[in-house]
Amino acid sequence: MIIWNQQHHLFHLQTNETSFVLQLLNTKHVAVVYWGKKLNTSSLSYIVNDIKRASYLSDTDLIKDFKLEQIPQIFPSFGNTDMRTPAFEFDYEDGSRITDLRYKKHSIKKGKKKIKGLPTVLASELEVETLELSLVDQVKNNEVILSFSVFENYNTITESVRVVNHDQNKLYINRLMSANIDFLDDHFDFLHLSGAWGRECHVVRRKMEQGVQSVDSKRGASGHGQNPFVALLDPAADETHGDVYALSLVYSGNFLAGVEEDMHQNARFQIGINPFDFRWTLNQGETFYAPEAVLVYSDQGIGKMSRTYHRLFIDCLMQSKFNQRERPILINNWEATYFDFNRDVLLGIAREAKEVGIELFVLDDGWFGSRDDDTSSLGDWTPNESKLGGSLKSLADAVNEIGLGFGIWFEPEMVSPNSKLYREHPDWAIHVRDRKAQQARHQYVLDLSNPEVQAYIIQSVSNVLRGAPITYVKWDMNRNLTDIGSDYLASDRQKEVAHRYILGLYSILDRITEAFPDVLFESCAGGGGRFDPGMLYYMPQNWTSDDTDAVERLSIQYGTSLAYPSVAMTCHVSVVPNHQVGRLTPIKTRATVAMQGNLGYELNLMNCDADDKVTIRKQISFYKSIRQVIQFGDLYRLEDRIHDSNAHAWMHLSKDKKTIVVGYVQILSKPNTVPKRLRLVGLNEDDLFELSETKEVHSGAELMYIGLDLPKVKEDFCAKQFVLTKKGELSNNKKD
Ligand code: DGJ
Repeated sequence: MIIWNQQHHLFHLQTNETSFVLQLLNTKHVAVVYWGKKLNTSSLSYIVNDIKRASYLSDTDLIKDFKLEQIPQIFPSFGNTDMRTPAFEFDYEDGSRITDLRYKKHSIKKGKKKIKGLPTVLASELEVETLELSLVDQVKNNEVILSFSVFENYNTITESVRVVNHDQNKLYINRLMSANIDFLDDHFDFLHLSGAWGRECHVVRRKMEQGVQSVDSKRGASGHGQNPFVALLDPAADETHGDVYALSLVYSGNFLAGVEEDMHQNARFQIGINPFDFRWTLNQGETFYAPEAVLVYSDQGIGKMSRTYHRLFIDCLMQSKFNQRERPILINNWEATYFDFNRDVLLGIAREAKEVGIELFVLDDGWFGSRDDDTSSLGDWTPNESKLGGSLKSLADAVNEIGLGFGIWFEPEMVSPNSKLYREHPDWAIHVRDRKAQQARHQYVLDLSNPEVQAYIIQSVSNVLRGAPITYVKWDMNRNLTDIGSDYLASDRQKEVAHRYILGLYSILDRITEAFPDVLFESCAGGGGRFDPGMLYYMPQNWTSDDTDAVERLSIQYGTSLAYPSVAMTCHVSVVPNHQVGRLTPIKTRATVAMQGNLGYELNLMNCDADDKVTIRKQISFYKSIRQVIQFGDLYRLEDRIHDSNAHAWMHLSKDKKTIVVGYVQILSKPNTVPKRLRLVGLNEDDLFELSETKEVHSGAELMYIGLDLPKVKEDFCAKQFVLTKKGELSNNKKD
């Protein structure tokens, strides 16, 4: 619900449990006066009136003691009495660099429109309401429109920004954040997800200090290094307690997210496109659309914040028809064979996969052109019939006959120097004219800003999808943008390449996913190198990491789950010694960890011994029985409850709160330790649950305040899963 309180000049954006309040000041600046737990109030003008901090800067608009640097603003500009980092920076043909935005008008409407060219969080008119604030520069007449949408039942507000050039001269955008929130407070920790290839999304939490602290990507993709999700939180906040304010960006390219603590102990929190290597020219009458930010406040710690993002992303972000569907358990041949396969090997794996209950066979890299290693053929999306022992269709048909669906890998955004495509169109690769182009993994990135390149990708991928019964696509992207230049764009538009690349990608994905609605798309960028809400809009699942080691995956999945739902995280069981780290872990542990998300297998089943196959068959049958709970239930991370850095634990609770699935892994065995119990969360105290293994019955209160007995074994990498089912309620002893 959005309330415009004309008397007190307040815009009150209310969800079921939160409030976000903006105040229109007499000067027509817009201040953020509150973000937090739901308020029922009419006036908050005292918040700005009470700000009295010393400053030697001059007054704004000659109003005594009115200094913008002390005002918590919603979209601060440069060139006034606020010396903090502005939300935007424009400059003009006449050399001026000041844009003084003041409120002009607003509208409040039911529903929300898709942002032109960009993925958008969407819901029906009944579920979302939108406030548009139009801010205008007095001299140039240029307009910045801030659009806030309230998803009442999801406790979420989204914000997007667009800029319209109403002036006859050019406007240059050098910086445009998607959200800026000023807090009159600095008592926060700054939390983000950082890492690298093979160890994505490790949680980093640091104390906020005076100055700027930020994370970003300059790689042309959201990247392995940092994720476009950040949070400010009460230093005392944990999984279940405390205030958390989070921003996530629905964008897959270069981003910047951070916080600035100023000299007055205020915090300015921002997220948006990275201003680095970015400058956009806007001609008269043109509009620039910035990607949208998703604002989540939780009064119950990081856990509730995550569950808010999870539900919103599944219901309102993922546009695929698979968003609410159980995902198939797949076998992928990458770690099983790498490039070295033939028809017999593939069908052999498929037959074994069927035996153990797997539902989908995925043919990874190496099926096209003359690609037997990573040095050739990207761009030539023609099946290699001699390697496949026939047409792709005949292979897919044979897999279908075995009883499995058929899926396939692509890396459509790339071109190998050794390819027909590159020989014909060297100018289609991103490169800087007159300089030798840089290769990474023996490949170049295609210039997706060029509509001809977009058309080529759509056509070549579509041809393959039309030519065989393909129900799943893994869309990979294995190098970042380095020496950035486009033959297609004019010389004064070269700083637009990185953003235009992403717009080109989104345009391709819009068209391909619309043309193939029955194909389940999975995003991948050498693992989690582009695991972001922008990609989830098109592809409802993502390969979480190329590191399939169970122990490494514990931290990667823990971090990824902060912002992304379990159903979006694909997790595979692979062989030991693990290919990335050489570690030996039991198959039970590998499967327990992989069952935290969307389960698959990535090993050569033909090489597994009979015992392992029996175990795998049991694992798959067990996963099928809990899949609905894992993929669509609520996730509670339980690490906080065991206070042991040597162990990880998590639980999924079905939406109806009747089934609980718990996963627990102790990494190393330690001598002479006190037996621990694992206390659950999120249950109704009086509900009675039966443990499937022992048939013991415990109340929700017992499970939350006493906990489950954990295994006491002399064994490294020990895992345990518990399933509990509701059997009634304590108060009236009623059985379900
Ligand atoms: C990187 C992916 O993350 C892997 O799973 C695999 O698909 C390779 N690319 C293939 O080249």
